[in-house]
Amino acid sequence: MNTSNSPLTAIVTGAARGIGLATTQLFLAKGYQVAMVDRDTEELHRAAQGLHNVLPVDCDVSDESQVAAMVQTVLGWSGRIDALVNNAGVADFGPIEETTFARWQTVMRTNLDGVFLCSQAVIPALRKSRGAIVNIGSISGLRASTLRVAYGTSKAAVIHMTKQQAVELGEYGIRVNCVSPGPVKTKLSMAVHSPEIISAYHDAIPLNRYGSEAEIGRVIVFLASEEASYLTGQVVAVDGGFEATGVGLPALRV
Ligand SMILES: NC(=O)c1ccc[n+]([C@@H]2O[C@H](COP(=O)([O-])OP(=O)(O)OC[C@H]3O[C@@H](n4cnc5c(N)ncnc54)[C@H](O)[C@@H]3O)[C@@H](O)[C@H]2O)c1
Repeated sequence: MNTSNSPLTAIVTGAARGIGLATTQLFLAKGYQVAMVDRDTEELHRAAQGLHNVLPVDCDVSDESQVAAMVQTVLGWSGRIDALVNNAGVADFGPIEETTFARWQTVMRTNLDGVFLCSQAVIPALRKSRGAIVNIGSISGLRASTLRVAYGTSKAAVIHMTKQQAVELGEYGIRVNCVSPGPVKTKLSMAVHSPEIISAYHDAIPLNRYGSEAEIGRVIVFLASEEASYLTGQVVAVDGGFEATGVGLPALRV
């Protein structure tokens, strides 16, 4: 709870574009100041231009020393951290036999190691603020599918890490939840979703469409805020109903 005069501060990783940028804008609209973290320096500084109360920080979330420096930079700027959104992610779809160990490690480094490192680094600050972490999973971490041995496994691990963190950090008043988005048209998904995949998703999702960045961001900001003060260890699929469809055979439709 914010009883001081300094504004609430959120760190959003992967904030240069897509879901992270939309989430940054939604935090700003709620009066937070936002540390925008990304390793794509050019896009990050372009995105931060014209936004007020933001601090762009160049950082690769999979690099332990860069993460430690990032947290010190943010604390030097704001003096406090109330929320961390572990949103930075990479996608790589391919058959298991073609997923080289190098490709596997690239996915795990950002999607899994990055969440572990950033979360651990902000614990002292979140203990002081009794703040919150929101991890970004995916429907690919909730339901298995082809071509996602690395991506889907990394996101399933993020979902479990969320529960580990919630259970252990609860006694410090730190809440940890996970948002698992369905498909959203961003640079990440458009690199791996062919036109066939897009139309198959439209068909399989009860709301028959992709989500928007803001539809995901609104749930992230809610979970990070005091509005969700008794909510921890949960995984919220923001997916147009995809997770609820179960077997979902087209032949069984009304
Ligand atoms: N778009 C979707 O359909 C979808 C669906 C489910 C889950 N997600 C998840 O949502 C999150 C955001 O995805 P998006 O679609 O907005 O992607 P995006 O590619 O538009 O944005 C991701 C951002 O993360 C940054 N990033 C990647 N690796 C990084 C690293 N190691 N260190 C720092 N920054 C790094 C990129 O530079 C980029 O700015 C990801 O975790 C993704 O897995 C996306």
